[in-house]
Amino acid sequence: MPSLLAPSALSHKTLAWFDANARALPWRAKSGERADPYRVWLSEILLQQTTTTGAAPYFAKFLARWPDVAALAAAPIEEVMNAFAGLGYYSRARNLHLAAQAVAAAGGVFPSEEAELRALPGVGPYTAAAIAAIAFGQAATPIDGNIARIVSRLAGFDAPIAGNRRAIEDFARQLTPPRRAGDFAQALMDIGATICRPKSPACLACPLREGCRAAASADPEAFPGRPAQKPRPEKVGAVFYAARPNGAFLARRRPPKGLLGGTMELPGGAWRVGEIADVGPDEAPFAANWTRLPEPVEHVFTHFSLRLALFSAAAPVAAPQGMVLVAPDEIDAAGFSGLMRKAAICARKYGPP
Ligand code: ADE
Repeated sequence: MPSLLAPSALSHKTLAWFDANARALPWRAKSGERADPYRVWLSEILLQQTTTTGAAPYFAKFLARWPDVAALAAAPIEEVMNAFAGLGYYSRARNLHLAAQAVAAAGGVFPSEEAELRALPGVGPYTAAAIAAIAFGQAATPIDGNIARIVSRLAGFDAPIAGNRRAIEDFARQLTPPRRAGDFAQALMDIGATICRPKSPACLACPLREGCRAAASADPEAFPGRPAQKPRPEKVGAVFYAARPNGAFLARRRPPKGLLGGTMELPGGAWRVGEIADVGPDEAPFAANWTRLPEPVEHVFTHFSLRLALFSAAAPVAAPQGMVLVAPDEIDAAGFSGLMRKAAICARKYGPP
């Protein structure tokens, strides 16, 4: 037995803790209510790569606008992209729309089995298990980084998670109770977010302390081991803010696939590893009297960091092919990524070009 208490004792304690301490999150069914698969699925997609605080306003916006899967399936993709703007990892928005269309085409009923859920665009093993457990009460075991950390600590696994997946999965499955698997998964999510944090875990507040090998050690934080950090490459590029005297500026939509796919952007050139001093107005997609603004715009992506030199000019009389004018009061609804919203707001600060 990898842990200090039997798996059934650990799951029992976890559920008892959840009954008294569950976080009130907007996508959770109230006690005694059945979970709505549409809400569960929508929330799990929004929560991929995103915190509960970051996802909550988007969840409210999506539900208000598209209260069921048929409404979401019928929405134009640009509107779904625009509603997702600012949340990052935009392939989620495209897949959300494709999955809504697949479910709507099947009569609006979500599949309840993990294998069928995994066939939906954007639904991987973790999300399929989470939906099967939370929406349908299946004894499924979602394992994300937080749950892998809790399981590693309980079992005293000090290897990095990536190299120890089989053992983590085996033990997580043993812990999953045959009934209330959805509550169990959400309890682990809550414990992972509030108690069994990556740094400074609050072991004294943990309902599983007695059964935890990491808590019994001198350094609970050392479980699981941390993988060696790879340095993040630094890339540079240019963006161009061409504005009218009334503040409206030129923007375009990025191609649907790839980084920031389908979001709106200020026109710009290629991003590459290099020096910001080597980035110049010659990269502009159309001719204008460009001035370099004093601040570059910076952003950190998962696999690289980016500095974009910002240039401004008066917009040409006719919008170039593929570009539209965005009024200042449309910035929040136009579908800009966080990065491009930051660039537009930074450029506006320097006044009319
Ligand atoms: N993270 C991913 N899914 C979650 C959920 N259903 N509740 C809280 N945090 C989560």
